[in-house]
Amino acid sequence: MTVSQLDNFAQKTREFAFSDEDFNALRTLVKEHTGIHLSDQKRELVYGRISRRLRALNLDSFLEYRALLTEANGKEIVEFCNAITTNLTSFFRESHHFEYVRDQILAPLVNDARGARRLRIWCAGCSSGEEPYSLAMTIRETIPDASRWDIKILATDLDSEVLGRGQRGLYTSDRVRDMQAARRERFFRQTTHNGQLAYQVTPDLQQLITFKQLNLMNPFPMKGPLDAIFCRNVVIYFDKDTQRDLFGRMAQLQRPGAVLFLGHSESLFKVSTDYSLIGKTIYRRV
Ligand SMILES: C[S@@+](CC[C@H](N)C(=O)[O-])C[C@H]1O[C@@H](n2cnc3c(N)ncnc32)[C@H](O)[C@@H]1O
Repeated sequence: MTVSQLDNFAQKTREFAFSDEDFNALRTLVKEHTGIHLSDQKRELVYGRISRRLRALNLDSFLEYRALLTEANGKEIVEFCNAITTNLTSFFRESHHFEYVRDQILAPLVNDARGARRLRIWCAGCSSGEEPYSLAMTIRETIPDASRWDIKILATDLDSEVLGRGQRGLYTSDRVRDMQAARRERFFRQTTHNGQLAYQVTPDLQQLITFKQLNLMNPFPMKGPLDAIFCRNVVIYFDKDTQRDLFGRMAQLQRPGAVLFLGHSESLFKVSTDYSLIGKTIYRRV
């Protein structure tokens, strides 16, 4: 079957009609609200995710849904953005970044008897919390007296639903299955949730993290300086201009020597000259 035959087939078998106009109107809104650029190839993804919203709201057409999105209270926009964003994450994802934090950021601070006992880290696009909790575990493991330091991890995301999960810190057993047993035992309490085995992060991790909803397209409320920013697997769907603007604003929050971590398929090539590459997707503020 050719691409256009497949498209026709999809149109005929769909529960809701989904025109070019619907797709274009929705992707314009996505770009405006999240910075995410949806290519033509994302058409089926948008149909699949948003038709769930139509069903949940008992609507008959995408046109009705588009009208709801433009209503003054803007409530559905939040659900719409939540439905579109991709929240894939895991504990210690791209583990070399956490090894870098341990060896190159935390260990020198611990060994410097006269150094400042202060650390500010931002996880921008933290999804359901696995990334900031991995950082918190790295900190607790490397700085024995971390409670006496001034350490703050700010964890932000656009998606209110995943952010709520991060804040709660309750994970199903499959999420922690691959974690070293000693780590799991130290930082999680076994419990049950909906009759299933679940794992609750310990308060000493939660104490280090503040979860806040923040759209990276909007002005940043914090002032910095930030020792490290994790912005991993977030900008992959942003166009270059949006990335340039975002990293330009992030650079203003960091002093020379501070570190920025990107996701495995992301880069600052032709995006920012405020940072230099010092490792695998690890950048230093110049
Ligand atoms: C694929 S997850 C990455 C999670 C984590 N950083 C990691 O690498 O495991 C991308 C996250 O970026 C968030 N995101 C996308 N656009 C955003 C925006 N404009 N502002 C804030 N967060 C955004 C999504 O909601 C999603 O949770």
